[in-house]
Amino acid sequence: MIPAAIPNISGREADYLMECVRTGFVSSVGPFVTKLEEMTAEATGALACAATSSGTTGLHAALTALGVVHGDLVLAPSFSFIASANAIAHCGATPWFVDIAPDSWCMCPQRLEAALRKECAMRGGKLVHARSGRRLAAIMPVHVLGNVADMQAIVSLAHEFGIPVVADAAAAIGATYRGRPLGELADLSIISFNGNKTITAGGGGAVVGNDRTLVNLVRHLTTTARLGPDYVHDRVGFNYRMTNLQAAVGCAQLERLDEFVARKRQIRRFYDSRLAGKAGLRAFPWPEWTDSACWLSGFVVERGDPAAVRAALNARGVESRSFWRPIHQQAPYADAPRDELVLTEALWSRIVTLPASTGIADAELETVVAAVTAAVEEA
Ligand SMILES: Cc1ncc(COP(=O)(O)O)c(C=O)c1O
Repeated sequence: MIPAAIPNISGREADYLMECVRTGFVSSVGPFVTKLEEMTAEATGALACAATSSGTTGLHAALTALGVVHGDLVLAPSFSFIASANAIAHCGATPWFVDIAPDSWCMCPQRLEAALRKECAMRGGKLVHARSGRRLAAIMPVHVLGNVADMQAIVSLAHEFGIPVVADAAAAIGATYRGRPLGELADLSIISFNGNKTITAGGGGAVVGNDRTLVNLVRHLTTTARLGPDYVHDRVGFNYRMTNLQAAVGCAQLERLDEFVARKRQIRRFYDSRLAGKAGLRAFPWPEWTDSACWLSGFVVERGDPAAVRAALNARGVESRSFWRPIHQQAPYADAPRDELVLTEALWSRIVTLPASTGIADAELETVVAAVTAAVEEA
């Protein structure tokens, strides 16, 4: 089987892990954690970074640092991995789902604008969802596929309405937006170092941004909100700090970020050039405003049965999946408020993902293309 996405552990990971073992620094205090924060800040063009135990805990801590509390609403796409919504729910808040744009598959600025202008009102100095009276506390665009959402439009709306933006950039490390780096686009942006991401730490995450005070607050929250060595804690914090063991792997991976992102883009261009436009197959979007990190590759089946194509690919030894089932269709979010999610509902099951590990061989890419051609005919 050619796998969908496996880690590429062929650099200095073992040496750095041995250094942790030799020095005894295995927990959340250690030089690799600090180094990973510096490297991630540099890689995302942000002034500051806080390393976390996962992308999800990073999102939770970021939302908390920006004041999202019980009863609030956060505008977010349903077209994402469930962790985006879970982080909102961990705050006691509820996602308010908006549809995606066809040119990016990320949050649609026009739908966002309609939600803000038509469904919100100022009450008692607070922006609220008019029908429920619940406070709108933040906007969470998700940089799906490694594309970047149209942040200029989203951030200008956020400024106009006076609410913060937390970007779920879990899979977007390496991407840029109109030549600008990822880390400066939102109040806070979150990276995941999960095993299926371009850069992995086994598990882990990072919160980046240009406001050092805010990022320091995130770090404080993730380390039990402890002040100094005397066990004084000034609020309800979390045990969400990355460990030195995770960071050791993450640092070895980050040393190869440019190489890995270049390979991801090569894989994407290869599939696009060989498959898009053939027999009802459409390429994933690559908006002109982003140099996509191309985390995920594949195509959309416009005619025919995508499930049959995926089954035929898997039978031929090419691992293929659909996209994430939309979050509003998941049991915990069945009652969450929502926009009309027309594109989200029409698109997700028509997606066929293809193997895109950075270590995939050119010959395997040829095998995948041949398998797709045969699978599409067969299906
Ligand atoms: C879009 C998105 N958001 C959030 C997450 C959560 O990250 P983690 O698995 O590191 O908690 C992931 C990946 O797993 C993701 O793809």
